[in-house]
Amino acid sequence: MTEQAREERFDHLFATTVRERLGDPGYTAGASPDAPDAVPLTYGFPYPDSFPEAALRDAVDTVLEEEGSDVLQYGGGEYVDRLHEGILGRERRRGIDATRDELLLTNGATAALDAVGATFLDPGDEVLVESPSFMWSLAVLDNHGAELTGVDLDSDGLDPDALEATLEAREAAGEPTPKLLYTIPEFQNPTGATLTHERRERVLELAEEYDFLVVADDAYGELRFSGESPPPLAALDDSGRVIRLGTVSKTIAPGVRTGWIVAHEALIEQMSRMAAGGTNTFTQSVLGRYFDAGHYQQTLDELLEGYEERRDAMLDALGRHLPAGSTWTEPEGGFFLWITLPEGVDAEAMLPLAAEEGVTYLPGERFYAADGKGTRSLRVSFSHVSPEELEAGIAALGRAAEASLQ
Ligand SMILES: Cc1ncc(COP(=O)(O)O)c(C=O)c1O
Repeated sequence: MTEQAREERFDHLFATTVRERLGDPGYTAGASPDAPDAVPLTYGFPYPDSFPEAALRDAVDTVLEEEGSDVLQYGGGEYVDRLHEGILGRERRRGIDATRDELLLTNGATAALDAVGATFLDPGDEVLVESPSFMWSLAVLDNHGAELTGVDLDSDGLDPDALEATLEAREAAGEPTPKLLYTIPEFQNPTGATLTHERRERVLELAEEYDFLVVADDAYGELRFSGESPPPLAALDDSGRVIRLGTVSKTIAPGVRTGWIVAHEALIEQMSRMAAGGTNTFTQSVLGRYFDAGHYQQTLDELLEGYEERRDAMLDALGRHLPAGSTWTEPEGGFFLWITLPEGVDAEAMLPLAAEEGVTYLPGERFYAADGKGTRSLRVSFSHVSPEELEAGIAALGRAAEASLQ
């Protein structure tokens, strides 16, 4: 990115949380080199052919025909209710028995996390996050002035021993207990790790013991190609400590900007008060119809095939192209793999060369709340391009890594 002089004359008018972050990368921490010919393994974008255009067109026509002006009015018509029912039905399939009062529709999972931040966080409040974690979620929490502390994670997800040690150390030092733990328990972004059942139980026990809430961002849970899913944290929670975030960005399309929060009624009540202006009820009506017509499951089945094929193509290419000493995760679903290159490679420094060779990715460092971690690691997404492009992209990554080791 080119450095540009920042306009400073409005600085005194910004809120403190904004003023203290002027010049910080924020969302631009995800910026990628401008390399139009490189294979983009950078972002968690669904592949374009996966979008259910015909089904959405049909749903738009139907809601306009059946509901007329109601669908365009404040609050929408009956199809908004149908979407609530559709989502609660999907949640029930995952073992979560929530009521309408425990569900809040949002404009996506990111907006849901923003509502959590607005409802619970004062500047300076402590939030525990996985180390590494999704950089844009870290940016949302940072926007609310949160102090972020990373807790280690391995191939079984967040490490409850590390979590307990962090909580104990804070308590011993007389520091306040964190209000929130933000976790991505299913096919974590960026590592692809899934939290084991046993660890889920321990995380919930610690939440109870130390009195914090667990924000479980489940953007990928329905995208499992093989193996068994552990029960979602919300299905194991009997004390109302889990705030569950969901989205259809990965199972229908990000452009429809629709997600939700499932949580204890008392928490939903306050979070809905913070969601000024409401949500897009026209889109919600279209999705209500989409669910009713049975498109959701049908599209999901097709997606699972498309993503599994891509995951397999990427794993196969990694085995053939990466230098000896490289390691990577092998997730059973989701969008991402986490690669660690041999000693001596710096993934951030290697990015311009990789882009020249024909691939872009996100360097590992950008997923950590603290500096200096993840320098040998990088996140690649297998969701966005075709299996042939994945092969070409990983071959380019292999060339860049070999050259960096010289
Ligand atoms: C863990 C996680 N949460 C949230 C999002 C974004 O969700 P939405 O598009 O619903 O805002 C993503 C997408 O990249 C993600 O990986």
